[in-house]
Amino acid sequence: MTDRPVLWITRRLSDATLERAARDYEVILDSDDRPRGPEEIVEMSRRVDAILPCHSEVFSADVVARLDDRVKIIANHSVGVDHCDLAALKARGIVVTNTPDVLSDATAEIAMLLMLGAARRAVEGDRLVRTGAWDFWSPSFMVGKQVSGARLGIVGMGRVGRAMAARARGFGMEIHYHNRRRLPPEQEQGATFHESLDSLLPVSDFLSLHCPATPQTTGMMNAARFARLPRGAVFVNTARGALVDEEALLAAIESGQLAAAGLDCFVTEPGGNPTFAAHENIFMLPHIGSATTATRDAMGFRALDNLDAFFAGKTPKDML
Ligand code: DGY
Repeated sequence: MTDRPVLWITRRLSDATLERAARDYEVILDSDDRPRGPEEIVEMSRRVDAILPCHSEVFSADVVARLDDRVKIIANHSVGVDHCDLAALKARGIVVTNTPDVLSDATAEIAMLLMLGAARRAVEGDRLVRTGAWDFWSPSFMVGKQVSGARLGIVGMGRVGRAMAARARGFGMEIHYHNRRRLPPEQEQGATFHESLDSLLPVSDFLSLHCPATPQTTGMMNAARFARLPRGAVFVNTARGALVDEEALLAAIESGQLAAAGLDCFVTEPGGNPTFAAHENIFMLPHIGSATTATRDAMGFRALDNLDAFFAGKTPKDML
């Protein structure tokens, strides 16, 4: 039993994941469910063979440089890996994996919810009914923006982007996308490819981000980019807050350039951006794109599959 690898699970994962992990590993799991800071990560690295973190634990170059040689693999419980300095981890010979595929449907569901809720004024409508302030009705009351038949611009046509496109097609939306590479026709399914983001924006009545946060994409939705959207566009972000210049987003909302926004991700998390709260046409959720029971189990199992492969001497499926 004692030769089982020691695995540090940084956050409270699903029960099924924790049960399986405890069956196969010597698990270290604190009862308090909170993000782990740099010193804690470095300290713990002396005691463990593997770490199963979430995007809330940051493996910066500095942290990676100070990790103990004992740690051999970081098996992330996330598809996004912007919290990991991949080059630094590679240089240290530490294997890094993520959990692609399994959260695409759940994240696309949240993107649809945000798109519809922002377009049809869900925050304002809910507040009116909930507070008893709903005392009026007219054909001109709470008129929103119709999704059906509109053009949806998708930035990043990977697994989540394609899941979003599939759902949006069900609403009769015309799909446009920008991606590093054009997709083959069977994946494109009639969507229009744009070689540049700047060409996608003017045809996007709705714009939804589904690309990773990298040094190249950080802050890409800036004032100039918001200005390229059709006036009254709706902006949706379920990817990463870092993709957006939040001051520019606020200015676009305040000027009416954006009719509404639906956001599950913020530059500062947890917490979000308090300046958005004054605007009921910003529909906000607290980074819960993948937060369904089925998806949490699938993410946990995928991370454990990667660990199992690694400790069996194989290449993990999701090795980056
Ligand atoms: C992901 O998997 O990247 C989600 O944002 C949750 O961490």
